[in-house]
Amino acid sequence: MSAIIEIKGLTKRYGALTALNELNLTIEKGDVFGFIGPNGAGKTTTMRILTTLLRPTSGRAQIAGYSVTDQPNEVRRVIGYMPDFFGVYDDMKVWEYLDFFAACYDVPVNQRKGMIGDLLALVDLENKRDAQVESLSRGMKQRLCLARTLAHDPQVLILDEPASGLDPRARIEMRELLRQLQMMGKTIFFSSHILSEVADICTNIGIMEAGQLVAFGDIEDMRRQLQVQRLIQARILGEETAPLKDILFQHPQVGKITDGREVELTPDIVRFDFGGTDEELSQLLRHLIEADIPMISFSEEIGDLEDVFMQATKGVVS
Ligand SMILES: Nc1ncnc2c1ncn2[C@@H]1O[C@H](COP(=O)(O)OP(=O)(O)OP(=O)(O)O)[C@@H](O)[C@H]1O
Ligand SMILES: [Mg+2]
Repeated sequence: MSAIIEIKGLTKRYGALTALNELNLTIEKGDVFGFIGPNGAGKTTTMRILTTLLRPTSGRAQIAGYSVTDQPNEVRRVIGYMPDFFGVYDDMKVWEYLDFFAACYDVPVNQRKGMIGDLLALVDLENKRDAQVESLSRGMKQRLCLARTLAHDPQVLILDEPASGLDPRARIEMRELLRQLQMMGKTIFFSSHILSEVADICTNIGIMEAGQLVAFGDIEDMRRQLQVQRLIQARILGEETAPLKDILFQHPQVGKITDGREVELTPDIVRFDFGGTDEELSQLLRHLIEADIPMISFSEEIGDLEDVFMQATKGVVS
C-alpha cells in the first residue's frame, strides 16, 4: 500500500472562522474515498487546497509525493478536478469542449481525436459528440465535466459533489462511472451529502463536521458504527402514538424517541434510535403487533446524512 494523498495538520482560517482544523488524512493509491459532511463542514475547502486553488493557513498536503503549496504545477498534472459549481462553455460542441481541455493539457493533436472518442464512450455521450453543450441535460453536462477532468489521464480525481442535482437514475449512472474509473486504477476523492450514494462504492469514508474529521474508516468500520445506532421510523394507523411510545420507552435497546410532530413529519410517525441487532428489531416489531399497536410501517431510515449518519457517529464525535 502506498499513500497517494497525505494531509497533515491542515488548517484553514477565514478571519475568525476556522473552516478546517488540523486535518490529518491519508488516502492510498486506488482508493475510492467518500468525503461526507453537512453544509459548511469544510469539504470544499479541503478539496480546493488539494487542487492548489486555495492556500492553507498552516499544515501540509501532498499528492503523489508533490506538495500542493510548493509544487502546484506538478500536482495539477496528476489530478483531475471537478468543482462543485462548474461553468461549461455553452457555445461549443461537445467534442470541441473536450478538445479545448485536451489542448490546455498539451495533449498532442494527433492523439486528441482518439482520446475524445474514448472519453465520450466512457461517459456515454458518444451520440452527443456534435451536439451543442448547452443542449445537454444537467446529468449529461455533469458527465461531460467529468470527462473533461480525465483529459490528461490524471491518477487522482478530486470530485466535489459529482452527483449533486442529479435525478436518481443519473445518480446511478454517475456511480457506475466512478466504479469504472476505479477499475481503471484511478484514485478517487469525492464529496457527497448522501450516505447511500457513498456506501457501496467507497473503499473508505471520512466524515467531516465543523472542520474536523470525526470518523474515518473502511466501509465495514462504518457499517459497524451504523449498526450501533440505527434510526427506525414507525407509522401507525391514527394519531394516538402514546401506546407505541410507552412500549418503546421500556425497551432496553431503544434510545432517543422523537414524535413526528417534533421533526416536521406527520403526527402518526414515531422515530427512535435502536441499538440492537436485526433479530432484536424483529422481536420488537412482533411485540408491537402482539400488543395491538396498529402498525402501518416499520422501517430503517438510511439516506439523509444529517439525520442518520451524524447520529450513527455520535460516539466518535464526543
Ligand atoms: N471564501 C470564504 N470566505 C469566508 N468563509 C468561507 C469561504 N469559503 C468557505 N468559507 C466557510 O468555511 C466553512 C467551510 O466551507 P466549505 O465550503 O468548505 O464547506 P462544505 O463542507 O464544502 O459545505 P457544502 O456541503 O455546503 O458544500 C463554511 O463555514 C464556509 O462558510
Ligand atoms: Mg462544498
